[in-house]
Amino acid sequence: MSTFTAPKGSYDILPPDSAVFLATRDALAEPLRRAGYGYIETPIFEDTALFHRGVGESTDVVSKEMYTFDDRGGRSLTLRPEGTAGVMRAFVEHRMHAAQLPAKLYYAGPNFRYERPQAGRYRHFSQVGAEAIGVDDPLLDAELIELADAAFRGAGLTRHRLLLNSLGDRESRAAHREALVRFLARLDLDEETRRRAELNPLRVLDDKRPEMQAALTDAPVSVDFLTDGCRAHYDAVRAALTDLGVTWTEAPKLVRGLDYYTKTTFEFVHDSLGAQSAVGGGGRYDGLSAAIGGPDLTGVGWALGVDRVLLALKAENPARWDELAAANQLDVFLVPIGPQAQRRALGLARDLRADALRVDLAWGGRGLKGAMKAADRSGARFALVLGERDLAAGTAQLKDLASGEQRPVPLDAAAVAAAVRPE
Ligand code: HAM
Repeated sequence: MSTFTAPKGSYDILPPDSAVFLATRDALAEPLRRAGYGYIETPIFEDTALFHRGVGESTDVVSKEMYTFDDRGGRSLTLRPEGTAGVMRAFVEHRMHAAQLPAKLYYAGPNFRYERPQAGRYRHFSQVGAEAIGVDDPLLDAELIELADAAFRGAGLTRHRLLLNSLGDRESRAAHREALVRFLARLDLDEETRRRAELNPLRVLDDKRPEMQAALTDAPVSVDFLTDGCRAHYDAVRAALTDLGVTWTEAPKLVRGLDYYTKTTFEFVHDSLGAQSAVGGGGRYDGLSAAIGGPDLTGVGWALGVDRVLLALKAENPARWDELAAANQLDVFLVPIGPQAQRRALGLARDLRADALRVDLAWGGRGLKGAMKAADRSGARFALVLGERDLAAGTAQLKDLASGEQRPVPLDAAAVAAAVRPE
């Protein structure tokens, strides 16, 4: 019988790398907590219709990539492909607009997209995301962008770059769309692209094929169709970013993969990542609340890809990776020799842990040689040998596993803790 493997496009994160994953996910969220963002946990599955209405029928995410299933009660549910629609659903459901606005919310967790797996692109991937709902202030867009930059830095990256664009509001978008439709009508498009152009011509700008990129060189871009209001909004975002010292590249053809965006849109790329270079992205989504049946409220947000940040960290800052991987390193590994010492070791481990030390011990009644081997392999800084004779004398032998130095210490949690704790 063949054994099982993780489903295609998913992977396991094992110790010690899992310590890097947790620390990195936490580092990405830290700037948000300092900026007044509160944590929100929403279900991993939602009504399928939420994503159809929120994310948009013309997107690859909704049309090709959703994990959709009927539950036993006949409801159509979908594993969330992204976090914004669910957060907005919760915001509307709990009438959070009745409280102070903007509602600043952040989240962290898995998302699911049936994409073609490759390095940095998975079917199960993790995001840290932030949403600021209910106030249309360009300074809020700038603050969020700066917080993403701070998040990457806090996670140990410096080689990320910001790509910035504005899609405008409904009026600007309609004017841009009309010009784009006219432009695309003159191109010789294949069947599928033509269909896509009919559904949402903006999507065509996102076509990565070199021949399409060449054909689209002179395509009309959204920034040339902004209304005065949208232009002022975009100018204010850029001025605030300049004030904050955040640099960016204008990316007039940047089209995000989700339909809800209006005005400011952006992506962060990291050049060590090859084809899947986006480590995060987001923007304003002023129509989303209304589109899912809520009040006509604005919003702006982003999500950062934890898996890709980890790949970028490994490439850019391996020293930090190693440091984080070692963060949960054991302080002491107990080596009890004989049944009496083993029982004593269990209580000593408990007392040392209560004193905030990381402690493990040799299991399975091993002899000195086997237990010392286990101590070496454990990565602990110290081994504490509890021999039978030591036990009677009320002492134990403390061995520094890096230097090999050994000395007796009183067999007492406070004394052991004092001996192993760095000055
Ligand atoms: P997104 O650009 O689809 O935006 O995803 C954000 C980030 O998640 C990407 O930049 C990437 O780092 C990561 N990501 C996306 N798909 C995959 C995948 N298949 N494998 C690995 N990483 C992936 C959103 O999801 C929006 N909800 C962001 C947002 C929040 N906009 C406004 N508020």
